[in-house]
Amino acid sequence: FFFSPAEFVKSATNLSMIPDNTMIPEVAFVGRSNIGKSSLINGLVNRNGLVKTSSKPGHTRMMNFFKLGDKLSLVDMPGYGWKSRDEWGGMIVSYLQNRKNLRRIYILVDPSHGLKESDSQIMKLLDSSGLSYQVVLTKMDRLSKTKYSAAKAEIEAELVKGAICCFPLVLGVSSKTKDGLDELRAAIVKAGQL
Ligand code: GTP
Ligand code: MG
Repeated sequence: FFFSPAEFVKSATNLSMIPDNTMIPEVAFVGRSNIGKSSLINGLVNRNGLVKTSSKPGHTRMMNFFKLGDKLSLVDMPGYGWKSRDEWGGMIVSYLQNRKNLRRIYILVDPSHGLKESDSQIMKLLDSSGLSYQVVLTKMDRLSKTKYSAAKAEIEAELVKGAICCFPLVLGVSSKTKDGLDELRAAIVKAGQL
């Protein structure tokens, strides 16, 4: 299974605009603004510029759907530090809870900052809905190996305490150096049973 060629399907600002391709396994990427969600999708499908990225937080305002043939659907989300909680709460929560073909949610976390309250809130929501998620640490290139390992260990220790539906393997990626992308692709293939 190859992660290319990828194509843009649709942007959605409300639930009625979400594509109706529910026979294709889907994975979604969530996390705080500026964490690297859009860059990661470009990295995964090996096509810079498929998804627009920006150094300014709050760039992605809509849910953006992409697909790899008829095999896999990828969803880029607005950062949850950006949209107001009500907006996030409304459309995205409802999407997460009701999307039949959603196989896993990837929660992106910056290892230099650790888990934030907003991450814990989304994990609680996913736990209470029985939705499978996995934590991916982004921008690995910014930390030394030692600092990265320490940050990862701290995050894992927190997850062990309370996260229920969390897949017990924290991955690390850099969209810049492409480190970790193959491991994430393999995890997605497995989650989607592709
Ligand atoms: P929103 O759409 O605002 O929620 O942000 P996002 O999570 O989609 O982040 P985006 O991919 O737009 O990246 C934000 C910034 O981080 C950009 O300036 C990227 O170039 C940078 N960035 C993303 N991934 C990496 C990475 O792996 N390493 C480094 N060093 N920078 C990265
Ligand atoms: Mg984005």
